[in-house]
Amino acid sequence: MKKRLLSGIKPTGDIHIGNYFGAMRQFLDLQNEYESFIFIADYHALNQIQNPKEMAQYSMDIAKAYLAIGLDPKKVALFKQSDVPAVTELAWIFNCLTPMAELERAHAYKDAKAKSNPINMGLFDYPVLMAADILLYNSDVVPVGQDQKQHLEMAQDTAKKFNRIFGETFKVPQELILKDVGAIRGLDGRKMSKSYKNTIGLFDDEKTINKKSMCITTDCRRADEPKDIEACSVFSLHRLFSTEADIKKLEKQYCEGSISYKESKELLAEKINKFLNPIREKKAELDKNPKLVEKILKDGAEKAAAEAEKIMKEVKKKIGVA
Ligand code: TYM
Repeated sequence: MKKRLLSGIKPTGDIHIGNYFGAMRQFLDLQNEYESFIFIADYHALNQIQNPKEMAQYSMDIAKAYLAIGLDPKKVALFKQSDVPAVTELAWIFNCLTPMAELERAHAYKDAKAKSNPINMGLFDYPVLMAADILLYNSDVVPVGQDQKQHLEMAQDTAKKFNRIFGETFKVPQELILKDVGAIRGLDGRKMSKSYKNTIGLFDDEKTINKKSMCITTDCRRADEPKDIEACSVFSLHRLFSTEADIKKLEKQYCEGSISYKESKELLAEKINKFLNPIREKKAELDKNPKLVEKILKDGAEKAAAEAEKIMKEVKKKIGVA
């Protein structure tokens, strides 16, 4: 029997290459090896996106992105989180086992508090819903980017705690984080993130990519000055789109000062456009056929709901309500 993989992306803005290289590429690489459940985390997005049109649009775009990068709906159950409502039921059960002090240590909550941003219960409880996502399907592995590590640890703790109190029920899932990738940098050098508006979109057109590439923040070294490859966000993005030989050549040019930032950015834009072309084409096809995407999500939700039901039956028995 194949082991099980689960992951998700929240529809809070345009899907970007940070999502792709941190997480989605793993979904793609592992779809043959694992029985995969990959979803659109719309209930997670609700604490930010409170506009129905935007929610529907961003959700649909994530579904199209999953398909456009090459996930095969015959191998992967693709679905919307909200189409399997058992997840909120399990989140409630986990709420009753989770100390508030643990959630007060969560990064997203601490960041929002430090910035005096408004905090709703959805944000505070975010890691519990995420634990429910992961454990509801008895996942073995969860491929994510580095920024999700703490959430994964909380899901692991929740599984262990439930098992300790009520008897062995959940597998303790393993996170899959690509060490060599880390956090992909955005246009301003910070982590690429929908909330920082510093992203390179997976569906950006050629003109936008050319424009965005020229806007990547650099220091002000002249063309003939040696440049620092570690500090340079342009160089860090080149790594994602280059062969080993290409990156070695570029490294040499940076170190000896034989390439300007302008040239490096133009070269990067070329590589990104080449990479995005087939994804854009597939997306354009899917735009013409929204019914197909909806059908794929419906079928995925049916498969996911059937799995969820099995576990919920066991959970309810264990806690004494069934
Ligand atoms: P989200 O929507 O912020 O991001 C989706 C995935 O993309 C990865 N990622 C990055 N990786 C590297 N560099 C970056 N700059 C970068 N930005 C984003 C994220 O690590 C993530 O893997 N809480 C999750 C969604 C979620 C989920 C789950 C994931 C909800 N339930 C259950 C896995 C399992 C989130 O906000 O991802």
